[in-house]
Amino acid sequence: MKKHLILLPGDGIGPEVTREALKVLQASCSIYDTELTTEEYAVGGDSLDKFGVPVKDEVIEACRKADAVLLGAVGGPKWDTNPRDLRPEIALLKLRKELGLFNNLRPVIVYDALLGTSSLKADIIRGVDLLVVRELTGGLYFGKPKDITEVNGEELGVDTMLYSTSEIERIVRAAFEAAVLRNNKVTSVDKANILATSQLWRKTADRIHKDYPGVELEHMLVDNCAMQLIRNPRQFDVIVTENMFGDILSDEAAMLTGSIGMLPSASLGEGVGMYEPVHGSAPDIAGQNLANPLAAISSVALMLRHSWAMNEAAEQIELAVETVLGQGYRCADMKEGATQVLSTAEMGDLVCEAIKQKLTG
Ligand code: IPM
Ligand code: MN
Repeated sequence: MKKHLILLPGDGIGPEVTREALKVLQASCSIYDTELTTEEYAVGGDSLDKFGVPVKDEVIEACRKADAVLLGAVGGPKWDTNPRDLRPEIALLKLRKELGLFNNLRPVIVYDALLGTSSLKADIIRGVDLLVVRELTGGLYFGKPKDITEVNGEELGVDTMLYSTSEIERIVRAAFEAAVLRNNKVTSVDKANILATSQLWRKTADRIHKDYPGVELEHMLVDNCAMQLIRNPRQFDVIVTENMFGDILSDEAAMLTGSIGMLPSASLGEGVGMYEPVHGSAPDIAGQNLANPLAAISSVALMLRHSWAMNEAAEQIELAVETVLGQGYRCADMKEGATQVLSTAEMGDLVCEAIKQKLTG
């Protein structure tokens, strides 16, 4: 089998963590006789510095033709004062929109080894295994008008929240499909007591639910959900929600696992899939070999599962991550309870070794 991967390392710790994720992917591909080729492009601040745009059209075209995309992170203080359409984050939004990646999966798994690392009590988080399904190409991120204008001598900022039935339908359906493969429960999160988009969301979710009689559907207001995630996170199986709510709730949910450095994501649509850690570019620790690469590495597991149907290889990586954590190895983001604190590259090497060791017994 042949697979072509586009690497978009981006800014800050992006290059460091994608390097380790690629190492792990190469190890998997050699085990499963998969010939891996890669092409690397600049995105975000890196692309702004080199080409004056957050992402070149040719990069998006290369992604469209590839078998998967692995992205590191974008952004940093250097570009924070750029005009709105010349911010590094625009690269991400453009990639998501133009590649049609409306379905963002963010699994939140609490490993036993990290029970003491979270800021929450072990009893609350033990066994948490939930999936946030975030709508990724609609809502406040993309709705027009979106502007800062002058009105009556002062500035006025406008963002627009907009969802069509078809946009809601496809993401809710994706959530039900995911739940069928998990524990048959969907929590649809909205603000239907206030927002028109949420009222349409709830109505649409109820209608699609009829196609999935074996799945339990509950509706939850987003403020309550934020509280329930901390109060009793084990109640959740699949959480489906709109773009901005999903952005906020998935960072919150990440802290159940001990560190945002643990959370992977998959962005799916009709064509190519894009995989990236949920964390940002962490400019404060960039270039120091300190970042935790496990979110990027786990994103590669999602790639193998969702884009290449290599489930066994995906499970091997996830097991290797769990094994390494179980042996007490951590990166600098989770020093507490660590028997050894590793660099970014050492952690990547150790995961590769764990994969190979499992195979040779
Ligand atoms: C994420 C990030 C992005 C988002 C930013 C960098 C644009 O926070 O992927 O969660 O808000 O979607
Ligand atoms: Mn985010």
